[in-house]
Amino acid sequence: MGSTKVAVIGAGAAGLATAKALLDQGLDVTVLERGDRVGGLWAGDDSAGASPAYDSLHLNTSKGRTQFADHPMPAHWPDYPSAARVAGYLAEYAERFGVTGRIRFHAAVTAVRRTEARWAVETADGEVGGYDAVVVANGHNRDPKWPSPGYPGQFDGTQLHAHDHRDAEAYRGRKVLVVGMGNSAMDIAVDASYVADGPVLLSARHGSHIVPKYLFGRPADATGGALAVLPWRIRQAVAQTVLRLAVGTPERYGLPKPAGGLFQNHPTISDTILHRLTHGEVEARPGIERLDGDRVVFTDGTADRVDVIVWATGYHVTIPFLDARWTGDDPEAMPLYQRVFHLDDPTLSFVGLMQSTGAALPVVEAQGKLVAAHLAGRYALPAPAEQRAQVRRAHAAAVRRWGAKRPMMRIDFDQYTAAVPRELRAGARRAGLNPTTKAAI
Ligand SMILES: Cc1cc2nc3c(=O)[nH]c(=O)nc-3n(C[C@H](O)[C@H](O)[C@H](O)COP(=O)(O)OP(=O)(O)OC[C@H]3O[C@@H](n4cnc5c(N)ncnc54)[C@H](O)[C@@H]3O)c2cc1C
Ligand SMILES: NC(=O)c1ccc[n+]([C@@H]2O[C@H](COP(=O)([O-])OP(=O)(O)OC[C@H]3O[C@@H](n4cnc5c(N)ncnc54)[C@H](OP(=O)(O)O)[C@@H]3O)[C@@H](O)[C@H]2O)c1
Repeated sequence: MGSTKVAVIGAGAAGLATAKALLDQGLDVTVLERGDRVGGLWAGDDSAGASPAYDSLHLNTSKGRTQFADHPMPAHWPDYPSAARVAGYLAEYAERFGVTGRIRFHAAVTAVRRTEARWAVETADGEVGGYDAVVVANGHNRDPKWPSPGYPGQFDGTQLHAHDHRDAEAYRGRKVLVVGMGNSAMDIAVDASYVADGPVLLSARHGSHIVPKYLFGRPADATGGALAVLPWRIRQAVAQTVLRLAVGTPERYGLPKPAGGLFQNHPTISDTILHRLTHGEVEARPGIERLDGDRVVFTDGTADRVDVIVWATGYHVTIPFLDARWTGDDPEAMPLYQRVFHLDDPTLSFVGLMQSTGAALPVVEAQGKLVAAHLAGRYALPAPAEQRAQVRRAHAAAVRRWGAKRPMMRIDFDQYTAAVPRELRAGARRAGLNPTTKAAI
C-alpha cells in the first residue's frame, strides 16, 4: 500500500491532520496549498489572501477541547489562545510529524477530474498530477456570503463583509452597524465599540444564545463535557438552565429571543459582547427592513444614521475545482458517508466539510484517521446501500435538530468524536481484520 499516492488539497488544520494520518499509515502524500504557509485561516494574510482572521481573533473553543489528541497545546497557554498562537501550533504540528516536507506551496488546485483508474489534479501553473485518491480540505470560511437578495433601498455609506475586517481603525469616529449574531458579529461589534462614534448597533433578524467563555470558573465547553453521553435534548435542558442562571436570557441584554434552543444553532460564544451591551457601548437592533441613504430602517420601524455597515453574514461553501457531477448543485448539501467519503467513489473524500457543535480540530483529526485507515486497507466501508441508508438517517436526525440550516453538514462534536473509534473498529472487522491488532482474522 506504500505506493498509494494521495493528494490532499489545503494545508489548514484539516489538511495537516489528514496528511499526518496518511503518513502514519505509510502512504505517499502530497499536500497542495495555494498559499505560502501552513495553518489555513489561522495563519492570517498569507499569500492566498483569503483568510477571514482579524487582529483580535482568539479561539472561542477552549484549548483543552480544541487541541489535537496527538499534539497537546502548551500547558502554560491561556484557555483561549490567540490566532497567532494557533497558527504557530499548527506549523509546529506539521513540522513535528513530517508533513511540512510533503507540502507544495503556491499550488492552487484548479481542477480535479476522474480519469480511467486515477484522479488528475491540475494546479494553476498548468501542472497535472495523477493520484490514487484525493482528499479535499480546502476550508469553507473564505467565500463571503452577502445578503441575497440584498435589502431594498440604497445605502450611501461604506459597506464591508466581516471577511475583510482586520482591526477597528476603519470605524474610528464613525457610526457603525454590525449585522448578524454569529461569532464574527460579536467580535467586530466589540472591536468597533471602543472607537466608534456612539454605540455600535448590532442588528439580528433572529436571536441566538450567547455562551460566555467561562462558566463557574472553567471554560464553558469543558463544563458540559461530563454531560456528553446524554441525548442532546437532555443536555440542552440542563445547559439552558445553567446558562439562564449564570448570565440570564439574551432578551435581558436587549437582544431578540433565540429562535431555537441551545445546541440547535451554531454556538455564539463571547464574554465581551455581554459586557459591552451592559455598558451601552453596543446596542441591539432588530432585523433590517430597508436602506435609506445615510439611514438604516429596522423592522420595528425605528431608523438610525449609519456611516459603516459590516455584514457579518457568514460564508458560502465552495469547492470550485470539482464539478457538479461530484458536488451536486449545492456543496452544502453533498451527502458523504461519515461526513467524509463520497458516496459514488470513496477515493474522493472530504475533511473539514462539516459544521461542528464544538471545536474543529479533534473532528478533522478523527476524519483524517478514517481516510487514512480506508486507503491503507485497514477500514472497509459498508456496502453502498448501507452507506446511503446511514446518510439518510443522519440527515433526518439533523433536520429534526437543526432544521433547514445546513442539516447535511451538521455533526454533534461529542457524539462524532466518540463514534469514530467505534466506526474504525467496525470497518476493521468488515475488512476481515482483528479490530485491535489489525491482523487478518
Ligand atoms: C473567524 C473564524 C474563527 C474560528 N474560530 C474557531 C475556533 O475558535 N475553534 C474552532 O475549532 N474552529 C474555529 N473556526 C473554524 C475553522 O474553520 C477551523 O478551526 C479550521 O481552521 C478549519 O480548517 P480547514 O483546514 O478546514 O480550513 P482552512 O483553515 O480554511 O484551510 C484551508 C486551506 O486550504 C487552502 N486552499 C483552499 N483552496 C485551495 C485550492 N484550490 N488549492 C490549494 N489550496 C487551497 C487554503 O489556502 C487554506 O490554507 C473558526 C472559523 C473562522 C472563520
Ligand atoms: N473563534 C472565534 O471567536 C470566531 C470568531 C468568528 C467566527 N468564528 C467561526 O467562524 C464561522 C463563521 O462565523 P460567522 O459569524 O462569520 O458566520 P455565521 O456563524 O454563519 O453567522 C452569520 C450570521 O449572519 C446572519 N445572517 C445571515 N444572512 C443574513 C441576512 N441576509 N440578513 C441578516 N442576517 C443574516 C445569520 O443569522 P440568521 O441567518 O439566523 O438570521 C447569523 O447570525 C463559524 O464557525 C464561527 O464559529 C469563530
